[in-house]
Amino acid sequence: MSNSVRHFLTDLDLTQAEQTEVLDLALAMKKDKYGYKPYAGPQTVVVFFDKTSTRTRVSFAAGIAELGGSPLIVNSGESQLGHKESIADTAKVLERMVSTIVWRTYAQSGLEEMAENSSVPVINALSDDYHPCQLLADLLTVREHKGALDGLSMAYLGDSANNMANSYLLAGVTAGMHVRIAGPAGYLPSAEIIAAAQERAAETGGSVLITTDAAEALAGADVVATDTWVSMGQEDEKAQRMELFREYAVDSAAMAHADKDAVVLHCLPAYRGYEISADVIDGPQSVVFDEAENRVHAQKAIMGWLMAKSNLAEVAGVS
Ligand code: CP
Ligand code: NVA
Repeated sequence: MSNSVRHFLTDLDLTQAEQTEVLDLALAMKKDKYGYKPYAGPQTVVVFFDKTSTRTRVSFAAGIAELGGSPLIVNSGESQLGHKESIADTAKVLERMVSTIVWRTYAQSGLEEMAENSSVPVINALSDDYHPCQLLADLLTVREHKGALDGLSMAYLGDSANNMANSYLLAGVTAGMHVRIAGPAGYLPSAEIIAAAQERAAETGGSVLITTDAAEALAGADVVATDTWVSMGQEDEKAQRMELFREYAVDSAAMAHADKDAVVLHCLPAYRGYEISADVIDGPQSVVFDEAENRVHAQKAIMGWLMAKSNLAEVAGVS
């Protein structure tokens, strides 16, 4: 196991300067789609899915190929991981075969165990707690539409105890943004996440507002974001959840509180008419398909950056 290896398990794994470097690299890679080859060989990148996916699956497969590598997608139930073999043993085998391990799973602790036992980078492709790759794509999209991130205000409405809420909060304050999270009592970020966000905000000049008042979060916001009210694994609670979050819907009434030039984010997949209305997601302020495309560019950047920082490849612009 190498001490110098870098992983990307939560949004806090990048400092503000590092996040900026990754987003700069993503923009450079977007301009020069086939110009970066940290996985030349082709080297293999394994991508495990314990939950379903469209964007993450395709964007990693496309991005790995564009970086000169070969993606190996392993779906739930197709490997020994998670039932017949420990995570530690899996990591010790895989580090001899692949250049990066990407994993969409349930428990964050599994990703941590994989990383502790791996001399190649491990990337969180969504866990119950975080979706940090999605946030790189979201911040890249905001940068493209709004310029610099620091000082912008970003409101997230809806299920505020889920992976996307945590990641909006942590990645947003890392970028120096003023992040406002609104949801019903009992569905807000944990005290631990709020404390971590406040600590990071104190370093970057960002700020944290946690509220049950959607209008308070939205007031003059530059960015408005939401996510499904029914995350993967919560399907049994669907009926109840579709009622619980109603006053936090991103619809035209909600958007009237935000800045008139605000952009709207949604990581997709979306339930039109629930967390976001059709007129908003299909309207002029929505940047959700730029956001989806940016998964490719952002993930190429984090993969190349981790390889360079772990001294496993050279990538132009990363020292
Ligand atoms: N946004 C996102 O991660 O989408 P998928 O679940 O389709 O990968
Ligand atoms: N919160 C959602 C995000 C999907 C990309 C989920 O975990 O299902």
